[in-house]
Amino acid sequence: MAIILGIESSCDETSASICINGEIHSNVIATQAIHAKYGGVVPELASRAHQQNIIPTVDEAIRQAKISKNQIDAVSFTRGPGLLGALLVGTSFAKSFALAQNVPLIDINHMQAHILAHFIEEPKPSFPFLCLTVSGGHTQIVLVKDYFEMELLGETLDDAAGEAFDKTAKVLNLPYPGGPLIDKFAKEGNPSSYKLPEPQIPGLNFSFSGLKTAILYLVQDQLKLNPDFLTENMADLCASVQSRIVSILLNKLKKAAKQTGVKDIAIAGGVSANSGLRKGLIEMGEQYHWNVFIPKFEYCTDNAAMIAIAGYYKYLKGEFVGQDVAPMARMHL
Ligand code: KG4
Ligand code: ZN
Repeated sequence: MAIILGIESSCDETSASICINGEIHSNVIATQAIHAKYGGVVPELASRAHQQNIIPTVDEAIRQAKISKNQIDAVSFTRGPGLLGALLVGTSFAKSFALAQNVPLIDINHMQAHILAHFIEEPKPSFPFLCLTVSGGHTQIVLVKDYFEMELLGETLDDAAGEAFDKTAKVLNLPYPGGPLIDKFAKEGNPSSYKLPEPQIPGLNFSFSGLKTAILYLVQDQLKLNPDFLTENMADLCASVQSRIVSILLNKLKKAAKQTGVKDIAIAGGVSANSGLRKGLIEMGEQYHWNVFIPKFEYCTDNAAMIAIAGYYKYLKGEFVGQDVAPMARMHL
């Protein structure tokens, strides 16, 4: 019997989850609405909101799992990568909880946890598999050899895919986070309305900054001719942007699959909630005979269930850290 409390606080979501013997029994997420009006996450405000939310969120996760806090066997927490002030809140909470309850402490890499979210429910991928991890801060193609043995095959050289969505949304006058809104508008639009460039980056790396600039110039030029350009063409603009971001991602994933010969292909991270990416991956999977793994929506964006499941696998290996552990804003896979 192993009951793990997972804590996530790397960005703007305060989350707590209870995992019992590898099964998730609660996953409580407090989203910080405060950032929307600033057009992006304000680190200082994120830390303060984590501080306010963390205890009620943990209490609720324990309540929903119908356990008492004395039954918890270990605490896992996001050590990095993320905003340092935000990570400090989760890390300090986890350390205090472990000290008070006299249970071991488990540090988790947030990017590994996004990938390990695939082990929450069936069907689970088998090792080795490829994972395209796409979030607000990262865009990576990872060869996953084992639970904690991951090789980075490619990554973005500038903006992350989520950033490309969010920065485009800003140009289109949409609030943060723009990804879900672009996704929504794209459903009504024609993806071939606007031709946007596909960057020619060698190997398995990505670049999204050129795309952002292309959209900015396009919108600026058109607004000079028609002040209502954005409102009149929102769906077509969103569909075109989304389709280009998805094609950049999937073309590299196809290349990675060909290069490695791996047929189990997964996506993870906030952008894996995108309906265009999910649909495109399924189609590509059928074409190339891949086994495709797409997380449930609640496990795509930041959540503590992925921290708790990753904590469970480390618990089984007896991999714990001491009270001297510190969060890391930058943390490699
Ligand atoms: O993994 P995540 O919740 O946080 C980070 O670790 O960064 O990812 C957040 C990112 C944001 O950039 C957000 O706009 C994007 O995921 N996102 C989406 C969708 N849902 C969230 N992007 C495109 N389409 C979506 N449906
Ligand atoms: Zn994330």
